[in-house]
Amino acid sequence: MPLPESFLEELKARCDMAEVASSYVNLKRSGKNLVGLCPFHSEKTPSFNVYPDNGSFYCFGCGVGGDVITFIRRIENLDYMEAVRFLAQRAGLTVPENQVDDGMAKLRTRILALNRETARFYYSVLMSEAGAAGREYFSKRQLQASTIRHFGLGYSPPGRFALVDHLEKKGFTQQEMILANVAFQSRSGRAVDRFSGRVMFPIIDLRGNVVAFGGRTLGDDKPKYLNTADTPVFNKGDMLFALNFAKNNNGGRLILCEGYMDVISLHQAGFTNAVATLGTALTPSQARLMSRYAKEVVVSYDSDGAGQKAAARAIPMLRSAGLLVKVLSIAGGKDPDEYIKTYGALRFKQMLDNCGNDVEYQLQKAKEGCNLQTAEGRVAYLRGSVQVLAALDNNVEREVYAGKVAEETGIETATLLSQVNAERRKIEKNRRRQEFREIRQKAVGYRDNINPEKAQHLRAAAAEEALIAYLMKNPGSFERIYELLPPEKFITEFNRRVYARIVGRMKEEKSVSLTDLAEEFSPDELSYLAGILAKHDGVSAEWKDALEYVNVIRQEDENRRLGNAAQAQLGEIEKYLEKLKQQKK
Ligand code: UTP
Ligand code: MN
Repeated sequence: MPLPESFLEELKARCDMAEVASSYVNLKRSGKNLVGLCPFHSEKTPSFNVYPDNGSFYCFGCGVGGDVITFIRRIENLDYMEAVRFLAQRAGLTVPENQVDDGMAKLRTRILALNRETARFYYSVLMSEAGAAGREYFSKRQLQASTIRHFGLGYSPPGRFALVDHLEKKGFTQQEMILANVAFQSRSGRAVDRFSGRVMFPIIDLRGNVVAFGGRTLGDDKPKYLNTADTPVFNKGDMLFALNFAKNNNGGRLILCEGYMDVISLHQAGFTNAVATLGTALTPSQARLMSRYAKEVVVSYDSDGAGQKAAARAIPMLRSAGLLVKVLSIAGGKDPDEYIKTYGALRFKQMLDNCGNDVEYQLQKAKEGCNLQTAEGRVAYLRGSVQVLAALDNNVEREVYAGKVAEETGIETATLLSQVNAERRKIEKNRRRQEFREIRQKAVGYRDNINPEKAQHLRAAAAEEALIAYLMKNPGSFERIYELLPPEKFITEFNRRVYARIVGRMKEEKSVSLTDLAEEFSPDELSYLAGILAKHDGVSAEWKDALEYVNVIRQEDENRRLGNAAQAQLGEIEKYLEKLKQQKK
């Protein structure tokens, strides 16, 4: 059963799109709309738009859009019902739960309960006789009992059914265990423990839910760490280990490590602002997540080649999330965990306080292997530093570091800066070219997953979209339009479905908003719809324009029936829309 109309109306009325978006994004007014930097992808010029008129948002950079519920789904990583509950709570409304069938939310709740029980089980095993091997391992790694408790560490007993049997007794089904990925399905179909004979690290999200596990072997066998695969409650690229602790009282600074053990050692030594990725390279979404809880990130990766390579990839990502970046170089082939064990927390703290920022680090890297006594060495260093400096958007920063490099190499700062600026123009040109390519691909519907028929029927699709936008804005006209144009006449299936849904609703209600469609369309489809509305936002289409759209669709339908679909003239309607926009100004 869908949510009752009256409830959604109330929710929409109380959760203003602009207000909700403003609590995540800095928005500036632009005409009657608002713009800001998109929270869903990294960008420097704002292309994230909020349209208070129809309560929608759309990013022209990444194509994400929708209504306030979609916004919350995306930014909080929730499913539909969870997003509704989230907003309802914020607005002080009660969701009429009993009328709702939300299978997915129920499954997620079950999996979270199952995970919590699993974490309890592993912890109690660790503390029991059966956990001696695990305790011995942790003590070898110098973890205190309080640390083990704080992180809820555990031990998965050797054998095949210890956890499965336990969870069965607690009322969980084998199917649920497999979906939670704490068990796998054997050939006979029976659920078998996924982790056995490993020390266990529960992964906890920001709401305190156990969402996944990492399990380390006690010996040298492979894989060293076994991790939960992505499940309905877990996306490894969106989570950071220990952020649930590190997000608070971190003084605006996070320490980013590679491993669970690094983080745990650091927390034990008092650095409770350490976090780690979950066995994969840093993702932009993790970088943005950090930027919500800190201003500065100290990258503290292993000092081996792989660690340094990973650091080099992480730095620009963190920077584009708006973070100040510093980089720790740990001497002597060590990770933070080993460093603290060998040299103590005090030395680590000193290193932390003295560590260079990312620019110094990158310049240092560029200098490696260059003999500044020779002309070749200086040229090689200068080449490398031009790349580093050109990536800096702040011109004060550029000047300061250019000055340093100039001094080291004995050339004029101005000469170096002009090189740097030339490089920047080159980068900018490439970026524009790339952007143009992407926009063009979008414009011609290339690889349009939502409306794959658009590419073959550009003219029809453009008219269909224009008509949909018109209808949403002018619900009063629906009867006249519907009379002229039954849904069957629509050429592309996606637009037909949207149209049918809109007119279907308009027969009952006076108006339709994206929120009314949010339940039946996926977030991607809603993004797409928001895109259509955003594209037509500045168009003051009138009744005669609507008739024109209707005619185009009818013509195309006629052509289709005659079996000679006229080849679309590229962008005809788009040009027409542009003209309308100009007229308005
Ligand atoms: P490391 O091997 O550097 O981890 O891998 P570590 O924490 O320092 O390990 P030990 O216990 O001190 O030896 C870094 C991270 O990469 C992931 C884990 O998240 C680990 O913490 N990883 C590593 C895996 O997921 N699987 C593996 O097999 C190895
Ligand atoms: Mn280690």
